[in-house]
Amino acid sequence: MTNRELIQRALEAQKMAYVPYSEFPVGAAVLTTSGKVYTGCNIENASFGATNCAERTALFKAISEGEKEFDIIAIVGDPKAFTAPCGICRQVLVEFGLEIKVILAKSVEQYKEYTMEEILPLSFTPKDLENKGGSA
Ligand code: THU
Repeated sequence: MTNRELIQRALEAQKMAYVPYSEFPVGAAVLTTSGKVYTGCNIENASFGATNCAERTALFKAISEGEKEFDIIAIVGDPKAFTAPCGICRQVLVEFGLEIKVILAKSVEQYKEYTMEEILPLSFTPKDLENKGGSA
């Protein structure tokens, strides 16, 4: 699976976005370390806070199918800008690894690549809970 192919899958998922309020469709495609792809779109709600972002839709689909190891996530939003994951999505993603690569794409040709560590420095992760209850 090339970056280009993963972005293409995110662009296809973007077409499924349910965005009657923002009219801002987002698509995401996450690649597992075993080579499977799960896609997602944003799903809005009349109760705005119930909206689910594209990244979380893709990730939750994957996790609910038993996946826990991810290599890359590709995200497409505004074709004229690099749409970055919101804070909640960054937190959900970092749970599964600081090494996950994040592709922000305007198109299959125009994209930037980061790591979770770069876009969410100084994060709170499962490691922080390893010594719970223990006194240093
Ligand atoms: N949105 C995403 O799906 N992913 C992001 O990371 C940024 C925001 C969605 C949520 C909402 O449906 C719309 O974009 C406008 O905020």
